[in-house]
Amino acid sequence: MKDNPSIAFVGPGRVGCALAAIMKEDGLNVIGAATRPDSSGEKKPGQEVFPYLTPDLAQLAQNADIIFITTPDDRIASIAEKLKKEKALKPDTIMVHTSGHHPASILGDKNVLAMHPLLSMARWDLARKNIKSAWFFLDGDQQGLEKGKELAETLGLNWTVIESDKKAFYHAAAVLFSNYLVALVNAGLELQEKAGIPKETGLKAALPLIESTLNNLQELGPVAALTGPVARGDKGTVAGHLKAMKGDKRLCKLYRELGLFTLEIAKEKGLPAEAYRQMLKTLEEEITHG
Ligand SMILES: NC(=O)c1ccc[n+]([C@@H]2O[C@H](COP(=O)([O-])OP(=O)(O)OC[C@H]3O[C@@H](n4cnc5c(N)ncnc54)[C@H](OP(=O)(O)O)[C@@H]3O)[C@@H](O)[C@H]2O)c1
Repeated sequence: MKDNPSIAFVGPGRVGCALAAIMKEDGLNVIGAATRPDSSGEKKPGQEVFPYLTPDLAQLAQNADIIFITTPDDRIASIAEKLKKEKALKPDTIMVHTSGHHPASILGDKNVLAMHPLLSMARWDLARKNIKSAWFFLDGDQQGLEKGKELAETLGLNWTVIESDKKAFYHAAAVLFSNYLVALVNAGLELQEKAGIPKETGLKAALPLIESTLNNLQELGPVAALTGPVARGDKGTVAGHLKAMKGDKRLCKLYRELGLFTLEIAKEKGLPAEAYRQMLKTLEEEITHG
């Protein structure tokens, strides 16, 4: 970056450590991180990436040109407020958060940036390995956005700008792509258990299927990637699934709701009108639970 800014972090967790690691690797000047004021001071995995850790937020902030607040979402605004109230920031310091839900404006109205990596970071070392493959969605004021673009370019990241007031849609989509995928797989494992397949074996067996689906999505897009009984119009098979599941209201409901979304893709893929109508009837039919 042009002026080799000093970059500090508040909240050295999974995202903070992974971002700091790639920044350091690319020669950026990561100066340190502020921990929770009541933190024990013991270093957690990943935190060795920071030259130093301190509970003294104001002291860290006074040396920073860019300060990333990578704490849980609901602490971001109060930390930004504290920094401003204590006059801890230099006049042009850019404040950044990495939440996908909140706009940059929760940090203030000037020199603010949100930079959300669209990635699931369950553990710091995995996050570190994968973070450069993520798309980063940026919003902020003009100064914040300029700095975000420069940072993203320096790090070689994929990035785009998002409208601040549309972030709730964007983040809800991220929940579908990632968290609900996990929930969906777990629901599938519950069904496999009903077939006598233990969860551990079920997951091992499911992963190649999931991976082949992801490959198809990547190569072909959602319409051509769709296979299975709904896409083929096999209503007898779908009715058989629903009948088998009729004792489990939750699974039945999930299967039918997602079936309706799947049916719309099948229609786009060319399912004939009569087959579409029959499948709709099968999926919408009231099942007697018990
Ligand atoms: N994980 C993801 O998949 C992901 C993906 C994209 C964006 N994000 C966003 O990135 C941000 C960080 O998420 P994360 O997953 O990295 O969270 P995380 O692993 O839980 O890390 C949060 C860090 O903040 C620290 N912290 C909490 N309160 C603090 C305070 N008052 N002052 C200083 N540090 C404090 C925590 O310390 P303790 O551990 O001691 O409490 C922890 O080190 C969130 O805004 C999240 O929405 C996360």
